[in-house]
Amino acid sequence: MKNLFDIQGKVVVMTGACGVLGETIVKYFAGQGARVALLDLPRTAETGRRIVADITAAGGQALFLPTDVLDQPTLERNRADILKAWGTVDILLNAAGGNMAAATVPPDKTIFDLDVDAVRKVVDLNLFGTIYPTLVFARVMTEKGRGSIINFCSETSFRPLTRVAGYGAAKSAVASWTKYLAGELALKSGDGLRVNAIAPGFLLTHQNHDLLVNPDGSLTDRSRKILDHTPFGRFLQPDELLGTLHWLASDASAAVTGTINLVDGGFESFSI
Ligand SMILES: NC(=O)c1ccc[n+]([C@@H]2O[C@H](COP(=O)([O-])OP(=O)(O)OC[C@H]3O[C@@H](n4cnc5c(N)ncnc54)[C@H](O)[C@@H]3O)[C@@H](O)[C@H]2O)c1
Repeated sequence: MKNLFDIQGKVVVMTGACGVLGETIVKYFAGQGARVALLDLPRTAETGRRIVADITAAGGQALFLPTDVLDQPTLERNRADILKAWGTVDILLNAAGGNMAAATVPPDKTIFDLDVDAVRKVVDLNLFGTIYPTLVFARVMTEKGRGSIINFCSETSFRPLTRVAGYGAAKSAVASWTKYLAGELALKSGDGLRVNAIAPGFLLTHQNHDLLVNPDGSLTDRSRKILDHTPFGRFLQPDELLGTLHWLASDASAAVTGTINLVDGGFESFSI
């Protein structure tokens, strides 16, 4: 019987691949037999090369390509390199993204203190940093009428969280773009090309470390509020995202497009 989850030999492109979630995800996909192209900023090259070496040592295939998700010509060069190496692109994971402290409103400040340029940078990275790679890599997918694009949303895509003003605006826009693009690509390129998002709940990573952990290592009041509002009562681990990503990447989700998939220990659906 056909294994709907088989992604053996598929070419996976992941932006932000050298981040906390990226490393776990690319190693998992490589372990499933996919060929993975790690795209991240040049400053992450050492990490990228280490991850590629780990994957290769485990018998997998991987490439690290320095990029900038806001620079289309660089992305086009990345695409040419991937096509030269592996001939196609099957799956795009748009994970480059994140927050900036200056785009937040801490409790002792108001919106009038907000650094609007920082908000713009966060929207640029999360929203346009999803749009540009899609425009570049979806070209290959539309030509063959097949592919799976997976964007990275957040709890803030559904309901705004306090403080993270720019990040919330950006990630809710990524959710809207995901749904829009799913319809647009299906209408013009058919039902083999799908666009979905994963919305990870709260993980303790370096990106949100200062919001969730005090300098003495204890949890912040914000952390306690999050955990009180999470039926699981704990932060999630990066490997808890893998099953949902594998499903979205593979034929197991062949009729699924335009969805935002929460992996959050129940946070979003819970009231008291
Ligand atoms: N960690 C969490 O708790 C969490 C929760 C929900 C959503 N997310 C989202 O998941 C994604 C991955 O998060 P993470 O925790 O691994 O973050 P991370 O900060 O560890 O990794 C993000 C990666 O993106 C790269 N990057 C930044 N700007 C870039 C650019 N211009 N071009 C190319 N690469 C760039 C960084 O170098 C970094 O390696 C992000 O979109 C994030 O917003 C994370």
